[in-house]
Amino acid sequence: MKAILLQNYGNLDALRIAQVPTPVPAAGEVLVKVNAFTISPLELKIRSGEAKMFVRRKLPMLMGTDFAGEIAEVGEDSTVWKVGDEVLGTVDAFKQSGPYAEYVLVKAEQIIPKPTSITFETACTLPISAVSALQCLRDVGKVKAGQNVLILGAAGSLGHISVQLAKQMGANVTAVCRYNNANFVKSLGADRVIDYSQTSPFAQMEAYDLIFDVVDKYSFKDAKQALRRGGLYLNTVPGPAKMFSALWNPFRAKKMAVFFLKPSIDDLKWVVQQVEEGKLKINIDKTYQGLESIYEATANLEAGHVRGKLVIQL
Ligand SMILES: NC(=O)c1ccc[n+]([C@@H]2O[C@H](COP(=O)([O-])OP(=O)(O)OC[C@H]3O[C@@H](n4cnc5c(N)ncnc54)[C@H](OP(=O)(O)O)[C@@H]3O)[C@@H](O)[C@H]2O)c1
Repeated sequence: MKAILLQNYGNLDALRIAQVPTPVPAAGEVLVKVNAFTISPLELKIRSGEAKMFVRRKLPMLMGTDFAGEIAEVGEDSTVWKVGDEVLGTVDAFKQSGPYAEYVLVKAEQIIPKPTSITFETACTLPISAVSALQCLRDVGKVKAGQNVLILGAAGSLGHISVQLAKQMGANVTAVCRYNNANFVKSLGADRVIDYSQTSPFAQMEAYDLIFDVVDKYSFKDAKQALRRGGLYLNTVPGPAKMFSALWNPFRAKKMAVFFLKPSIDDLKWVVQQVEEGKLKINIDKTYQGLESIYEATANLEAGHVRGKLVIQL
């Protein structure tokens, strides 16, 4: 099969399109013919070597995380899945070969059925971004109706989903993005928009119960003044300094936390249902065609201003 391999940690030309053997599913596994996959910041960090310490695989390795497609082959004992089923799912990018390829091999429990009303393009965007947004707001932020929530990076992948979920939870949402995304985030339900190129997002003192930093361009130190007493600054990009700082929370009136995704099929099914029922809309900024578009698509993501998601369709 044709696949995108990471030859060495580095910049875009570390990715090579190559022919590799098509995997064969063992018992408990299925082979999915990839229809669409999304590209995400995690893959940029793996490619560059920034996330190298977490990677448990050897180079060259097959990249990618979230996908949607059709079952091509099932392992011996599979009773749940059959050839032709339409599915979506995710792999553990630190440990498993991913879907930057014509086929991806997964464990039977890593996929869920794709409803016919949801396109492959939309389905492949959901596992990491939508589940992370849900867990951040519901489990860590514990957002309640009437609370004030500030979302830094509101036009991006996690951000545009978070605006919608925070509104569903009854929060008053202030979205932080560039001026050209103001109407976009308002259309998703944001009550107020701050253009970070003109105004500091933290100018309003003691205003927010939750400051959700999705882009990691800010810090707890800067954000603190805009938090209410008992408020939380939540950052989605873990690092040793931030994790150490969070240990001091018991001694603070204003807290900070870093987020780690907990893979959950139940949460994935929930977000899929939200999309099916029209309660959650995924904005696909651009769909690229074919594995060869990986270079253009990745450069676009790296530029840092994607509105929603980027998808590659095969
Ligand atoms: N810890 C975990 O388990 C976990 C899980 C999921 C994701 N993450 C991490 O979360 C981060 C965000 O992921 P993502 O997919 O949402 O990123 P993304 O979609 O690539 O974010 C792009 C967005 O960032 C916005 N942006 C850029 N500079 C900004 C600034 N100074 N202020 C406000 N917004 C700004 C851009 O909006 P404008 O065009 O308006 O500037 C753009 O829409 C990544 O680092 C990812 O690895 C972590």
